[in-house]
Amino acid sequence: MDICTIGTGYVGLVTGTCFAEMGHNVWCVDIDEEKIKKLCNGVIPIYEPGLEEMVKRNKEEGRLRFTTSLSEAMENSLFLFIAVGTPPKEDGSADLTHVIGVAREIGKNINNYKIIINKSTVPVKTGLKVRQVIYEELLLRERTDIEFDVVSNPEFLKEGAAIEDFLRPDRIVIGTDNVRTGELMKELYSPFLRNGHQVLIMNISSAELTKYAANSMLATRISFINEISRICDASGADIEQVRLGIGSDSRIGMPFLYAGIGYGGSCFPKDVQALIRTANELGVPTEILNSVEMVNIAQKGLLVEMVVNKYGKDLSGYTFAIWGLAFKPNTDDMREAPSLEIINGLVEKGAKINAHDPIAISVARELLGEHGITYYENNYSALEGVEALLLLTEWNNYRRPDFHRMLRVMKTPTIFDGRNQYDPKKMKQMGFEYYCIGRNG
Ligand code: UGA
Repeated sequence: MDICTIGTGYVGLVTGTCFAEMGHNVWCVDIDEEKIKKLCNGVIPIYEPGLEEMVKRNKEEGRLRFTTSLSEAMENSLFLFIAVGTPPKEDGSADLTHVIGVAREIGKNINNYKIIINKSTVPVKTGLKVRQVIYEELLLRERTDIEFDVVSNPEFLKEGAAIEDFLRPDRIVIGTDNVRTGELMKELYSPFLRNGHQVLIMNISSAELTKYAANSMLATRISFINEISRICDASGADIEQVRLGIGSDSRIGMPFLYAGIGYGGSCFPKDVQALIRTANELGVPTEILNSVEMVNIAQKGLLVEMVVNKYGKDLSGYTFAIWGLAFKPNTDDMREAPSLEIINGLVEKGAKINAHDPIAISVARELLGEHGITYYENNYSALEGVEALLLLTEWNNYRRPDFHRMLRVMKTPTIFDGRNQYDPKKMKQMGFEYYCIGRNG
């Protein structure tokens, strides 16, 4: 059962590589020639732990191939995964241009039965549109005798842990109206299953909505805990104690209850907005989702607010160090990263920035430029002579830094910890002025 993944971004590349790892023959297709050339030479366009080695191994063993030719890749493949981007349009709705474009290409090239699988995050009813577009092309070719199925199979991969998530999924959601197709999909995923129960077969709309509902639920937890952290600060309660207090209830659970500087990345902000749009188009009000978004916008501004409270609105003459630019650890992704707004906010007010990140520096340079910002390869060098440090991403190497060295090199030992990484009492004892999110223990 050969497989073809269309789109070699995070999702397509991880999907294709993990299927190859399980012994399938996989073709990865992309229209970007440069990207395909690099992949053929073993150069991976993104940072994802474990991916590079896995691509290399499967390429060498002949199971993983890269091409710009969809017709070549499709020829012997039964499963065609659409894994192209669905970026947000100005009104927040998902832009389906790439998905529909791929569907059209499939329609032009399909010659025998295929299962076309939507892995991209797409609004409810997109499966129907994909089916319709392929059918239109078959009509033009007078080949409506060719059969195909369209399946929704959303991904739940976390960047930075995508391989692990793919190999050991909590669940696999398959949206199909065809029992036989459901069985084939189940068989395809069988190497990843610890027990059969993880495969959830449902109708296409339910699978499409599940993806948005899952991300929106997680985003809601984060905005909820961020709002509670504000109440902690105002009341003297401690968010860590409250987190343990509520998370110990098995109905609530511990994960995804860390207060911070707001959620970022390519998924939560975009998917919450897209779900709001879909609901509004359907005439359904979205009071909770609107609030989730508003709380997140406010939370992204919190650290700049804290800095302004201490130093005033005019920050010229002040230099601040930033540790962490990526939206979370173990990725070089900076899409919707809180660091973008925080750094821009500080630079607008006249501050100078010394920025460090273990791997996102070149991405940051492209997004933020050099105006007012100096990039450092070493996180301690970034601290030299600064007024304060702002910790924005909880990378492992920031977790237990050499505090004595920090005290020596910083102009004034002040830390704004956007990720609650250090012990407030110890920081005070060591002589730091320490600000964090909702911790008052
Ligand atoms: C998210 C989902 O977790 C995946 O299941 C989903 O497949 C993916 O979106 C997607 O739709 O493709 P991802 O965006 O990679 O994955 O990252 P997360 O680990 O979920 O983190 C998202 C944001 O929430 C980060 O900015 C993180 O710092 C923040 N966060 C997370 C918190 O502020 N507090 C928490 O307790 C957890």
